[in-house]
Amino acid sequence: MINTLENKVVVITGASSGIGRATALLLATKGCQVVLASRDNVALEKVAQTIKERGGMCEIVPTDVRDEESVKSLFRRVIELHGRVDILVNSAGIGIYGSTVEASVEEWDQVINTNLKGVFLCTREALSYMTKQRNGHIISIASKAGEYGLPKLSVYCASKFGVIGFSQAVNKEVASLGIKISYLCPGYVETKFLDVFPREIISKANKARPDDIAKEIYSIIISEKNRAQGSKTIKYLIRRLVHHVIPQDWHNYMLV
Ligand SMILES: NC(=O)c1ccc[n+]([C@@H]2O[C@H](COP(=O)([O-])OP(=O)(O)OC[C@H]3O[C@@H](n4cnc5c(N)ncnc54)[C@H](OP(=O)(O)O)[C@@H]3O)[C@@H](O)[C@H]2O)c1
Repeated sequence: MINTLENKVVVITGASSGIGRATALLLATKGCQVVLASRDNVALEKVAQTIKERGGMCEIVPTDVRDEESVKSLFRRVIELHGRVDILVNSAGIGIYGSTVEASVEEWDQVINTNLKGVFLCTREALSYMTKQRNGHIISIASKAGEYGLPKLSVYCASKFGVIGFSQAVNKEVASLGIKISYLCPGYVETKFLDVFPREIISKANKARPDDIAKEIYSIIISEKNRAQGSKTIKYLIRRLVHHVIPQDWHNYMLV
């Protein structure tokens, strides 16, 4: 079978940990040239070392997705290294748990700037190259909290609803240029992201593993159905994820 991902240039934000890290490891085993981006240089080096030990190809580019210049220089470096960008996985993100009246403006800014402005900045920069290439695929990690308003997650929900609206709108802008836009809506995933939730909620919850989400991302990338343009693509992805990744009892845990 032909490996369609051989030498594809993939930029992954949030690659130092959790879902981003698992995705980087998996795509590197599929022959992709992976560019690992997040703030923590030391953690990125460790991921890069693991990839190289397994025979994969990668570079690290320390990046803060909240910062326009940092994101621009990430993509400049990718183009310098590889001359193109085939796939962007927007995985960088942070969570916050607590009532809306107790949320500070600083917390709002941190979450929105990382989860939503970060997706905007990285997507815009990737698109500036992908539109010239007339191909590319951008996959953003949204959340079930981007589909349902959930108590004590209002700020996080606002960021992830934003990611979904943004992705749907961009999809309509660029589908005719041969660029694919996708997003995923995972439920709980066993990563350090869950540290912000109260232990009693997390201990009861069914949790996916980062590897499960990485496999979903891989299947989205290689899926022929995903080549369909427009919103059908997105509905198809949500339906699949609801059936395959999101625990059936998600709402029982979140709506208590
Ligand atoms: N875990 C879950 O239950 C769950 C469920 C649904 C959706 N999600 C979403 O999945 C994505 C990945 O989260 P995860 O579960 O893998 O959590 P994680 O293990 O905490 O990883 C988060 C990643 O985001 C990076 N990051 C945070 N702020 C950043 C910034 N300003 N600039 C660049 N990178 C930044 C972190 O790296 P540095 O610290 O090195 O910057 C880290 O690599 C997030 O968007 C999250 O909202 C998670």
